[in-house]
Order: sequence, then C-alpha cells, then structure tokens
Amino acid sequence: MSSRAQTALLVALICALFGSIASALADEPAKAPRAPDAILNQYCNVCHLTGWNGAPLSGDANDWQTRLSTGFDSLFKNAKQGINNMPPMGTCQDCTDAELQAAIRKMLP
Ligand code: HEC
Repeated sequence: MSSRAQTALLVALICALFGSIASALADEPAKAPRAPDAILNQYCNVCHLTGWNGAPLSGDANDWQTRLSTGFDSLFKNAKQGINNMPPMGTCQDCTDAELQAAIRKMLP
C-alpha cells in the first residue's frame, strides 16, 4: 500500500471514529416516549386488531373481561415477558416500561 493510500485510510478511520462518538453523544439525552398510538400501529395492531391466534381485540370488552380481572400489573407482566402466542414486549424490543404500559392502557376497553 502506498503511503498516500495509508494516509487516506487513516483519515477515513479517524472520521468514522469521531462520527460514531458524535452520534453516541447525540443519542445521550433521554428520548421522549413515543405516543401509544404509534406503538400500537407499529407493533401491536397486527395481532390485536385482527385477533390473530387468540389475541384479545383492542377495545373489545368481552375479550378483556377475564384478563382484566387479574389486574393491570399482571397484564403488564405477561405482555413484557410474553405469554403463549403473545411475544415478549409485543415485539417492541426497544419499548420502555412506560411506553408498553401506555400502549396496553390504550388497548383496554
Ligand atoms: C404476534 C402477535 C402479537 C403481537 C405483535 C402483540 N400481541 Fe399481545 N397478545 C397476543 C396473543 C395471541 C395474546 C393472547 C395470549 C394468551 O393469553 O394466550 C396476547 C395478549 C396480550 C395481553 C394480555 C396478557 C394477559 O395477561 O392476558 C396484553 C396486555 C397484550 N397482548 C399487549 C400487547 C401489546 C401492548 C403489544 C404491542 C406492544 C402486543 N400485545 C403485541 C399476540 C400479540
């Protein structure tokens, strides 16, 4: 490799390094929670608007009646860990607890 090519490579590496440091710093401040509807649309509705494999329908009192009797904490725990055909976090792997809870509240009748 010519020394010119080596210099170019070194410059490219340094740029890449500083670029990733800069973007890591930019990500630092706590992100504002996403709107419950945004979470529902992106992750949950595909199952909870269709009743896929027994998913309780969003806003359907009959579907939620017995589940609601176990209390919100239990619903949240099951949604977070997953239960039967309900995948952990409802597939929203980067959801915070608050985002997940808000999405569940929005889904309940
Ligand atoms: C791949 C389909 C699928 C996706 C995506 C999905 N769910 Fe579910 N969900 C299910 C199914 C199926 C059940 C019923 C599980 C059971 O009780 O057997 C369920 C059950 C639940 C329950 C009730 C748990 C309980 O204790 O009875 C909650 C709450 C819930 N989902 C929330 C969510 C939220 C919030 C999202 C989006 C972040 C989501 N789900 C995404 C399929 C899905």
